[in-house]
Amino acid sequence: MFFKQLLTTESSLSYFFGCAGHALGAAVDVVAGDEDWFIEQAAQAGVRITCVIDTHVHADHLSGGRELARRVGAPYSLHHSARDFVQFDFEPLTDGQVLDLGNVRATVLHTPGHTLDSVCLLVSDARRGPDPWFVLTGDTLFVGAVGRPDLAGREREMAALLHDTLHRQLLSLPAELEIYPGHQAGSACGAGISGKPSSTIGFEKRWNPMLSLDRDAFVAELTSTVMARPADMDRIVAINTAA
Ligand SMILES: [Fe+2]
Repeated sequence: MFFKQLLTTESSLSYFFGCAGHALGAAVDVVAGDEDWFIEQAAQAGVRITCVIDTHVHADHLSGGRELARRVGAPYSLHHSARDFVQFDFEPLTDGQVLDLGNVRATVLHTPGHTLDSVCLLVSDARRGPDPWFVLTGDTLFVGAVGRPDLAGREREMAALLHDTLHRQLLSLPAELEIYPGHQAGSACGAGISGKPSSTIGFEKRWNPMLSLDRDAFVAELTSTVMARPADMDRIVAINTAA
């Protein structure tokens, strides 16, 4: 297993991980302008980038995913539901799908709430054990916070969906599982995000104030926080969804 976390613009966290033995890697939530970094990291590790994934169509920064995928000749993936609103072809992801990276496997979890197309990636390393080791949580679960539900409208409905997603898909996972989110403090994608860029499911269940709320209280709390829209959001979404 190799694993790199990159702090980038808009307090976004990008990831590059995979299997050094089989020389296969996945790039997740690549920000436009960082494509060279991933190509250099892959060259240093002697691996091929075989998956480029966005955990959702981003509203706060320009994605570099399609450009990196084009440059390295890898498929670019989003959850299949993004077909409803993006204007280009991509490799669709489905809930439960397993991405094979040699000894490393990433299982796709469909986790709607922040957006309808959000996914998390549950990653295991067969060299260490069969259980998942960490989960990339995108903008679904942050350290100390959860994703905002209002960016695409219908915020109460989306907040309720996020509550169901968190409890069904993430909080049932083992307490020792590490989480690596899509942002740290400073992002417009959630309120109250920690400056620490990783945590565990167990620590978040104990100390994340949003995770102990029942569904109604969660929806009320999450929709009571009025956050500014990400700067230049309409232009960014238009570019990230354009053919
Ligand atoms: Fe987001």
